[in-house]
Amino acid sequence: MTDPVRPAASGAMPRPLFHLTPHRHWMNDPNGLVHHGGLWHVYFQHNPEGPDWGNMSWGHATSPDLLHWTEHPVALPYRPGEQMFSGSVVASRLPGDDTLTALFTSAYDDDHQAQSRATSTDGGYTWATDPDNPVLDRGTRAFRDPKVVPYVDADGDARWLLVAVEADDRQVLLYSSTDLRAWTHLSTFGPTGTDGVVWECPDLVRLPVDDDPDDQRWVLLLSTNPVGADADPEGSSMSYVVGRFDGREFTPDVDRLTRLDHGRDLYAGVTFDHAPDGEAILLGWMSNWRYAASVPTAPWRGAMSLPRRLALRTVDGQVRLVQEPFGFVRTWLDRATLATVAGDAQPVELVSSGHLLCELRWDPAATGSVRLDLRGDADALVSICHDVAAGELRVTRGGADAEAVHPDFPSVSTVPLGCARPVRLLVSLDGGLLEIFVNQGEQTLSNLVPLGTGPVTVTVECDDRGPITVVAVDAAGLLTADRSS
Ligand code: FRU
Repeated sequence: MTDPVRPAASGAMPRPLFHLTPHRHWMNDPNGLVHHGGLWHVYFQHNPEGPDWGNMSWGHATSPDLLHWTEHPVALPYRPGEQMFSGSVVASRLPGDDTLTALFTSAYDDDHQAQSRATSTDGGYTWATDPDNPVLDRGTRAFRDPKVVPYVDADGDARWLLVAVEADDRQVLLYSSTDLRAWTHLSTFGPTGTDGVVWECPDLVRLPVDDDPDDQRWVLLLSTNPVGADADPEGSSMSYVVGRFDGREFTPDVDRLTRLDHGRDLYAGVTFDHAPDGEAILLGWMSNWRYAASVPTAPWRGAMSLPRRLALRTVDGQVRLVQEPFGFVRTWLDRATLATVAGDAQPVELVSSGHLLCELRWDPAATGSVRLDLRGDADALVSICHDVAAGELRVTRGGADAEAVHPDFPSVSTVPLGCARPVRLLVSLDGGLLEIFVNQGEQTLSNLVPLGTGPVTVTVECDDRGPITVVAVDAAGLLTADRSS
């Protein structure tokens, strides 16, 4: 979406330039992510009639490159008595068959949720719902968010796997099908982990460890949202657990969920079906149910994260899920317009449009603590600090305009980060969206930041002599160049 609308209020967030936002109105979870016919299709939870959650329908946008987006008419509109909650789309793997199949949650007004089906034979633009809907119904009230993935069963036969949650019970249910219509229950995972949360938007992703094709694992992705009167004010977050899937049961390798992103604003992330080269590309919703309704943007509300390529890498003897930006980000950094060096005698100020990619490297042994301050025209301060004494990267968002968003919006988020190794930090700032990738995606931190609508200055400094090398590129300039070429 490339028509920035600049709201007047200070602390307001300008429209991102290189992230997907709806043209107008409310957006939450990514739905039905699929690569088909040379395009990336993103459906999304959408209120076609207003800036708040409600009338849940599937919005639709496509992109050839995950950068330039075209929004299309609503794909699955809500109906009297039924909202279209989250779900997924898969492309037929049969030769010559172009059908796309969506499995989504019908959230009925009588407090009952079940899984429904729709198909598209025109490349994902129009959809026919199945007259037999719902096709998978347990008669319960929080059975939702079906994610369908292909798998091969113990006899070597290709099948479809559906994972969905009983949100209130903190359970993931696994089902199998050959025709995407009749589903057989395979097993149930959970409950596990913290109580006082609902589980939402699961995904099960097959990935090799350290690129070894003979060591394949399955990674369960989960979104968890605190509920109840004394719910955790930090709100929504994503977790994962690495394990094995034997065609029937998912068995985790370790007995706990690991946080997927250390910021406050990455939720409901799932991967694309049928991505080129079998890559696992994740998009998440950059917000938090704790304050999503008060995020100061207009005439739209809600944004997707950068696309992230998922991989499993052994780090310090443990298999970790790593996430790196996928696609244009690396190309842009390679065309960087600014390469500079900062040290204690030489803090660096990067003046940007507020749409900036920046890659920094330092060796903590030479720099001591490192600090980046981000300032725009709002009364807010966002800082990123590698505190070597504390052994952490700390991201603070504060100031009057942060407090004005919601009482729980000011935040301090941390990522464990020692000083034994050199550090590489990729910082993406696109209007109100800040995403930080630490050491090639070993850790990520995603936050909304109310820096205002004007230019943003990033000040980089360290305690000792340095150096910190900085490569930065202003995306506003690049996009202008792109459009005129
Ligand atoms: C997650 C979620 C899903 C649900 C959808 C409704 O953010 O609560 O569980 O399907 O949003 O919009």
